[in-house]
Amino acid sequence: MQISVIGSGYVGTTLAAVLADAGHDLVNVDLDEEIVSQINDGVAPIFEPGLDELVAEHAGTQLRATTDYDDIADTDVTFLALPTPTDDEGKIDLAAMRAGSRSVGEILAEKDGDHLVVVKSTVVPTTTEEVVVPTVEEASGKTAGEGFDVAMNPEFLREGTAVYDCQEPDKIVLGVQDGAAGERALDTLHEVYEPILADHDASVVETGLREAEMIKYANNAFLAAKISLINELGNICKEYGVDAYEVADAIGLDHRIGPHFLRSGVGWGGSCFPKDVAAIIHAAREKGYAPELLEAAVAVNERQPQRLLGLLDTHTDVAGKRVAVLGLAFKPGTDDIRESRAIPVIEGLIERGADVVGYDPVATENMREHFPDIEYADSAAAALEGAHAALVTTDWDEFEALDGEFDAMADPVVIDGRRVIERRDGLTYEGITW
Ligand code: UGA
Repeated sequence: MQISVIGSGYVGTTLAAVLADAGHDLVNVDLDEEIVSQINDGVAPIFEPGLDELVAEHAGTQLRATTDYDDIADTDVTFLALPTPTDDEGKIDLAAMRAGSRSVGEILAEKDGDHLVVVKSTVVPTTTEEVVVPTVEEASGKTAGEGFDVAMNPEFLREGTAVYDCQEPDKIVLGVQDGAAGERALDTLHEVYEPILADHDASVVETGLREAEMIKYANNAFLAAKISLINELGNICKEYGVDAYEVADAIGLDHRIGPHFLRSGVGWGGSCFPKDVAAIIHAAREKGYAPELLEAAVAVNERQPQRLLGLLDTHTDVAGKRVAVLGLAFKPGTDDIRESRAIPVIEGLIERGADVVGYDPVATENMREHFPDIEYADSAAAALEGAHAALVTTDWDEFEALDGEFDAMADPVVIDGRRVIERRDGLTYEGITW
């Protein structure tokens, strides 16, 4: 199939590369010329395991990037994979979605034949019906369900495993309009995903547009709340000297709870959970509903970095002392620092007057933009040398192997927010929930 993807962020680039690899012809549209030329040179614009290889393999043949919306006229399907950031109140900003929808509509005005517009971005319920459809209709002069079709197909990929998640999804959610237009959209989407479903057994959920939009938020809100719940229980465990990981292993055996996403620690970050939980809270409040449990999930998440710092305070006063922060990315496998729990931890250390030295295998340059004035080390060993304390904020595998490196600390106080340090002997070691 001829497919266009608008937006070359995490979702757009991964989707385009994976669909090209599945045998379709892809054109990826982005306004950023640098990103476009990178993709055309066969280089992934983001750090994501396996993505560089796919882009290198298909660039120039089945995958092409462009800044020109005109190129979507030759495609059958257009995915909108544009950012939907939230403002301070949690409301999602639809400026990019409106602009993208308008540009697609302008092209459709000149196009004969069927075209399916698919919303991939995370948008609150009714956005596809009330914002995307009217915008495309106005720009194209055509009516949804007649001149073009529309669908909502949320993405569940995780950063760090985006390619794998896109190639081997648990589920594919297809939200469509009622009636013949919906059936047509489903047929087209089945054709898009056919090569992926042929190689991998995923559940396909066929539903309405606003249901698909809600499924995405419910998925992320559930997972974020699950982590906050295990963090809350973990904090109680710590008060009793109980190891929260032992408790999590046991409760995870109940199939209704399940063993996944029960790693308690310094909390959740990233570009999705904080934004999406805030957005669905805001959307619920706009409807006059108070989502108290979700608000508590956010509050627990904000407390975790403070608890990590509080544990540090019980062992040492760090004013004027070198303190290592191990892990700057919001999770392992990515250089993304958005809403990383390392950020409030570093802020707390700066407030305490510490000389902070950060280390991360890939996220240092991104964190340097956020905190230009702290020191950055090239290795965990270099960060630990002479440090009076170390705080662990990301569960990178390489931290598990740290051992003799702790002997170079001036004072071996280690506060672990991710249950990743294996050495305990000779350290003043505290786990956040164990
Ligand atoms: C999340 C969802 O997992 C994806 O399904 C979704 O598509 C994506 O958001 C999105 O909406 O785009 P992601 O943000 O990449 O993916 O990362 P996760 O692996 O879910 O981790 C999120 C945060 O939770 C990280 O800070 C991680 O350290 C933390 N976490 C995760 C825990 O603290 N404990 C756990 O047990 C699991």
